Amino acid sequence: MKVAVLAGDGIGPEIMVQAQRVLSQVRPDIELTSAPVGGAGYEAAGDPLPAATLALARESDAILFGAVGHPRYDTLERALRPEQGLLRLRKELGLFANLRPATLFDELAGASTLRPEVVAGMDILIVRELTGDIYFGQPRGQRVNEQGEREGFNTMRYSESEIRRIARVGFEAARKRSRRLCSVDKANVLETTELWRQVVTELGAQYPDVALSHMYVDNAAMQLLRNPRQFDVIVTGNLFGDILSDEASMLTGSIGMLPSASLDANGKGMYEPIHGSAPDIAGQGVANPLAAMLSAAMMLRYSLGDPAGADRIESAVRRVLAQGLRTADIHEAGATRIGTQAMGDAVVAALS
Ligand code: IPM
Ligand code: MG
Repeated sequence: MKVAVLAGDGIGPEIMVQAQRVLSQVRPDIELTSAPVGGAGYEAAGDPLPAATLALARESDAILFGAVGHPRYDTLERALRPEQGLLRLRKELGLFANLRPATLFDELAGASTLRPEVVAGMDILIVRELTGDIYFGQPRGQRVNEQGEREGFNTMRYSESEIRRIARVGFEAARKRSRRLCSVDKANVLETTELWRQVVTELGAQYPDVALSHMYVDNAAMQLLRNPRQFDVIVTGNLFGDILSDEASMLTGSIGMLPSASLDANGKGMYEPIHGSAPDIAGQGVANPLAAMLSAAMMLRYSLGDPAGADRIESAVRRVLAQGLRTADIHEAGATRIGTQAMGDAVVAALS
């Protein structure tokens, strides 16, 4: 089996080193090949998604992705910016289904900004559509309007088939969990998401065993803070999913804990921590590598048919947390603060 490792920018490379150590410990047979993406792709080949990187991603069985982005590149023309490497990979590989679990490790209940009794036992799966919506809709751009003023414009757009295929992922996921699906939209204002609600409701007829509910995105943002445990699976569009998944991640103590999977229609996928490149702490050896390791676990489970290997990594992470070891982002009084490398050492030790 072949896995492409695209570490990217900022803290991407340092967390990815630790994720690779852990993966190799569990599955020494997997062939890992690295390639540059994002700002690193731009430096290496003048393109945030170099052709060789895209080719490697295509021919691999799965992709492990770090993070992209650095303020240094913000003034480049948009097509050359690091984020385009990620967005193009998603689009080129048809990775339309983004699974973002927000699960609280009991050991970290005290690290959440919400009271422990509000978040204890929280286990939400956000299913975010990843290749459509205002992220990719045309027309888009900036222009000078008739009044001679600059204006920016983007297009929120979803076709029926795009909505149906992501809704199906949501229903199927709910079936494997507690059979509750909440579809999030803004149907009271936006026609695109009014269609979203209609299509999801129609598909719901095929899943009588799943309790389907609908929520406006503003209310969903509020309910996540008020009572996160009311949610099981949430299905939503690209933009709302981007925002709600950052919000949900914080309830678990740290965005540094959450992995994600981005899957195509055949289950091939790219796996990435949902945190970004965090340029402010890059190179200091303090970044939390657990989300990257948990992403490798998700990869074993969803794309490489090795749920036992995934369980091994996840329980090793749990054991290390139970030992009181914490990187700075999840640190609390009484715990032992350690760096990126030491966290890698601890998880590797817990595996053997
Ligand atoms: C994410 C990120 C990306 C997104 C950025 C880096 C383009 O925020 O994966 O959530 O907006 O999708
Ligand atoms: Mg995001």
